[in-house]
Amino acid sequence: MLLDRIKPLDAILATANKKSLNRTLGAFQLTLFGIGAVIGTGIFVLTSAGAQKAGPGLMLAFAIAGAVCIVAALCYAEIAAMIPVAGSAYTYSYASMGEFLAWTVGWALIMEYAIAASAVSVGWSGYFSGTFLNEILGVSLPPALSAGPLALGGAPGGVINLPALIIALLITGLLVIGTSESAKLNAILVSIKVIALTAFVALTFTSPEFSTDKFNPFLPAGIFGGWGTGVGAVGAAATIFFAYVGFDAVSTAAEETKNPQRNVPIGLVGSLLFCTVFYIVVAAGAVGTIGGQPIMGPGGVPFPAGSEELARQCAMPEHAGALVCSNEALAHVLREIGFSGIGNTLGIAAFLALPSVILVLIFGQTRIFFVMARDGLLPEKLSSVHPKYKTPHVVTLLTGGVVAIAAAFFPVGKLADISNAGTLYAFMMVAIAVMVLRRRDPQRQRSFRVPAVWIIAPLTVLGTIFLFLNLPTEAMLFLPGWGFLGIVIYLSYGRRHSHLGRGVVEVVDDIGGLEHDFPIDTPASKPDR
Ligand code: ALA
Repeated sequence: MLLDRIKPLDAILATANKKSLNRTLGAFQLTLFGIGAVIGTGIFVLTSAGAQKAGPGLMLAFAIAGAVCIVAALCYAEIAAMIPVAGSAYTYSYASMGEFLAWTVGWALIMEYAIAASAVSVGWSGYFSGTFLNEILGVSLPPALSAGPLALGGAPGGVINLPALIIALLITGLLVIGTSESAKLNAILVSIKVIALTAFVALTFTSPEFSTDKFNPFLPAGIFGGWGTGVGAVGAAATIFFAYVGFDAVSTAAEETKNPQRNVPIGLVGSLLFCTVFYIVVAAGAVGTIGGQPIMGPGGVPFPAGSEELARQCAMPEHAGALVCSNEALAHVLREIGFSGIGNTLGIAAFLALPSVILVLIFGQTRIFFVMARDGLLPEKLSSVHPKYKTPHVVTLLTGGVVAIAAAFFPVGKLADISNAGTLYAFMMVAIAVMVLRRRDPQRQRSFRVPAVWIIAPLTVLGTIFLFLNLPTEAMLFLPGWGFLGIVIYLSYGRRHSHLGRGVVEVVDDIGGLEHDFPIDTPASKPDR
């Protein structure tokens, strides 16, 4: 009875046709956009948490997480090119599996994007306090104001992460007044990130400190540390998966892409492959120079990343230089091998570039929220558009407030794990949606088809479930907890107010009232009308 309301695909596609954006994006721009949304806190900060879980096997963790993302990206490519409208996985699920499951996907995406934005804010805060304040200005924030109560990196005594709170609120303010990045600014920020990571690789691999001995033992916590423990190479993969989150934003650009059959998959898979190779090489450079062995707890099991015990260990002088203790992993490595100046420059690069990742994530979250409210599943007041700025200011402020509060009090690793749980669920549902639509609507034109779909889509489902089960238990439990709350809201509000349920099938421009419907403001991102 709950699976009865499926939004007709034709109504959704009519929306897309009506919107008729110019198709001007090419494969290169899409790839650049993907890289801009993807490279962020994952590599610049979570490298420490990944090493604490896997040791030098962090490289393998990047490869495993990258592989799951690549098969998921192919599924995203098929469905995004076929249903090129706002709302991403939520809309795809609405058309294939019905309103109830679509609601759960939308609800999970809210968790993905909002919590990911909090995690990146906390990651940014590490570089702000460590590089900008400490190294450049020579001042330091008291630990009480630079970390939440349980932050990775040994800041016992942390009370609130003020920089993370402030950056999240600043970005929210920018989104309310309608800021979207220009394609040019995105290209500049991508270049800054790529140059910083390339310099990192060049300096670490040519450093006299680099030694293959540092990779031994390669898997001190094993490949598989046990379900729900979050350790071992696959436990690290489940956390480091965060480093790839954001590529799904490329799918939102399908509608504006020239020759989507060719360019959407190139943009999605190309940006992911590029990041996967880069991440593995960066991890090798970090471990090969300063080592990446975890700090072991009782029974030879690594202390949990982000835990109080680890923070205590990190405060001890013998662990002062450890990779696993740093809040600014990559800048820290360069400083340790004698390149303080370049380490600081890399820190500034992260400081400049990470806010754009926060912007894309909060943006994505508000648009999902907005489309769900437009469908009547959330109070319509949430979808009201600001008369002057033409932005969905109510959802933006609400989202920004939650992002800022989570960023102020939680450590980056825990936030990333929770965000990953929501993302993995959404990816799994996209893969299922691709299979359902292949069966239900085989004749419909698909401008991109997943090759060997009956292998790739099930692999995506298995891969996402596998990574999910390797998250720490508390992150895993967050998803059903959040899901339960979502189901209560759906049954008490959404089901009764749903436009589809009331027989209204809108053929409207999904986010037509908005000025900015693509996070990167390209010349193509305005409707033709
Ligand atoms: N993948 C993005 C990051 O690592 C979310 O910051």
